[in-house]
Amino acid sequence: MSHSSEIQACIFDLDGVIVDTANFHYKAWKRLANELGFDLLPEQNEKMKGISRMESLDMLLEMGNIEATRKEKKQLADMKNNWYRDYISEMQPQDILPGVLDFLEELTEAHILVAIGSASKNAPTIVRQVQIGRYLDALIDGSKVTKGKPNPEVFLKAAEEMGMEPADCVVFEDARSGIEAAKNGGMRAIGVGSEQMLHQADMVIPGLDHINLEKLRTLEK
Ligand code: BG6
Ligand code: MG
Repeated sequence: MSHSSEIQACIFDLDGVIVDTANFHYKAWKRLANELGFDLLPEQNEKMKGISRMESLDMLLEMGNIEATRKEKKQLADMKNNWYRDYISEMQPQDILPGVLDFLEELTEAHILVAIGSASKNAPTIVRQVQIGRYLDALIDGSKVTKGKPNPEVFLKAAEEMGMEPADCVVFEDARSGIEAAKNGGMRAIGVGSEQMLHQADMVIPGLDHINLEKLRTLEK
């Protein structure tokens, strides 16, 4: 494998890796499904992780066997996004997941560059609210990409903005589509979540409180 080069940059997915917003996305989609007369189960939601707003809506409507015009889709997506924005509006630095800040500090001290690569158009709002902007060398969000994960565009753009090659980067992801995106882009990938769900990753950890620089470096061997 081409996986022996030195790690010079880490690219983090945001929702479900840095903050627990994956849960807010689920809550908002479930609420929309309920309004439309059906339920959204956790395993159905799992497939929607990492997927853009409109693509997620299409998946949801398919699950509920519902047809909608473009105009209706726009209205439904706006409804979901308004609920979601309501949920995230109260977020604060305390909502950063365990281990994240320590690891970001460690990376900064080691001169390893840090980026966010997120499918969410709300990513800049969340970054502002939890105040992690000072750690970031690049922030690529859903408004800067045209192709969703598993297409690697979001991570390739992050690498490019940092002046890095894909082989220099490691991606942290909680979504299967995100691990695939990293691999499709020629990057190493660390899954954040369950081993079973994210087995395509080079390493799986339950959360960023289970990683440090020394463990990260084991991917260089
Ligand atoms: C991803 C989430 O980070 O962003 C998805 O994993 C979400 O669940 C996607 O649909 C788009 O988010 P937003 O905030 O632009 O609707
Ligand atoms: Mg995620």
